[in-house]
Amino acid sequence: MKDALQCPSLFKAYEKYFRIGAAVSSFMTFDPAYRTLIRRHYNSLTADNQMKPESVLDRAATLAKGDLLHAAVDFTRVDALMYFARDNGIPMRYHTLAWHNQTPRWFFAKDWSDAEGAEPASKETMLARLENYILDVMTHVNEKFPGLVYTWDVVNEAIEPELKVPGLYRTWSPWFKTCGEDFLFTAFRAARKGQAPGQTLCYNDYNAFEPVKRDAIIDLLKKLQAENLVDTMGMQGHYVMDWMNISLCEEAARAYAALGLKIQVTELDIHCNSDDETHSQRLAQLYGDYFAMLKKLKEEGIDIEAVTFWGVTDQDSWLTGFRKETSYPLLFDRAKQAKDAYDAVMKAAK
Ligand code: GLA
Repeated sequence: MKDALQCPSLFKAYEKYFRIGAAVSSFMTFDPAYRTLIRRHYNSLTADNQMKPESVLDRAATLAKGDLLHAAVDFTRVDALMYFARDNGIPMRYHTLAWHNQTPRWFFAKDWSDAEGAEPASKETMLARLENYILDVMTHVNEKFPGLVYTWDVVNEAIEPELKVPGLYRTWSPWFKTCGEDFLFTAFRAARKGQAPGQTLCYNDYNAFEPVKRDAIIDLLKKLQAENLVDTMGMQGHYVMDWMNISLCEEAARAYAALGLKIQVTELDIHCNSDDETHSQRLAQLYGDYFAMLKKLKEEGIDIEAVTFWGVTDQDSWLTGFRKETSYPLLFDRAKQAKDAYDAVMKAAK
C-alpha cells in the first residue's frame, strides 16, 4: 500500500493531457492530511456543496431586503473555499448556478414563503430572480477572486432521467414547471453576461453516456449553441461497476465534441461494494481503461479540459449513504492509501 500523501501526483502525471480535479468539502480545508493530499494530486477543485444555491441564498436577508425580484446572497461558504483554492494556487470549477435540487423552496414562492404548497412566483418573476442571482454570484466571485474560476456549471441536470422520448426535459422540476425551457436560456444568457475572459460555460448532467439521454442532451446543446451560449459539456460520470460501459462513454464524448464543445468529466466515481481482491482488480481495470480512453481522445484532438473525481477518499464519498451499502469508488481508501485503481490510472498516463 502507498500513502496517498506521498505517492506520485495524479495531476502531474496528466499535466500534458487535462486537469485532474476533486470535489471537496469544507472540512477538508481544515484537515492537515486532506490539505496535503489535495495539494499533491489535484489541479482543479469543485465544491461538493458549498457553492450550490442553498448554500448561498439567504432567506432572512432576502425578507429584510423586501425586493421580490432579487434575493439576498451570503458568500461566507463560497469564499471559504475560494480562499483555500487561491492560497494553494488551484483553479476552480463553480458548481452550480441553476439546479432544481439543493435550491430552497422559498426561492420559488411568490412572497418568499417557506411553507409547503406556498403560491409559486410567476414565470417573469422567476426569470428575473434567476438572472439577478447568477449575476450576483458571478460578479462577486470574479471581482473578489479574479482568474480563479475557469468553468461555471450554469445549469445542472435539465434532462429527464426516465426519458423514453428524445428531447424531453425534466418537466417536474420547479424551474420547468414555472418557466419551461426559458429558464435554461435565461440562465445561460445571464452567465454569458457575467463571465470573465477565459471562463467557459458548462451544461452538466449525469448518465450523459446513455444513448437516449445523450441525444436529448445534444438537442438541448444545439439550441444553446444557436445563441452561442455554451462552451463545455460536463459528463458527470457517476458509474456503477457492473454497468459501466466505456465504449458508450467514448461514443458520447465524441458526439458532444463533434458539436464543437469542450468536454469535462465533472463527477467521476465508480460504485463498488467490496474491497476484496476481485473487486479491487475490477475497479482498477475499469479506471485504467477509462483513463486510457480519455487520453486517446485527447491525443486525437478532442478538447478534454478536466477530469474531476467526486470526492477524495472512499471515506468521504457520498455513495455509501446514497447506495445504502459501503462503497469503495475512488482511488484512495479510507486510510488514505493509494489503491490498485490509483496504480491503473497512473499507468494509463504513460
Ligand atoms: C449530482 C450533483 C452533485 C452531487 C452529486 C452527488 O451529480 O451534480 O452536486 O450532489 O450528485 O453527491
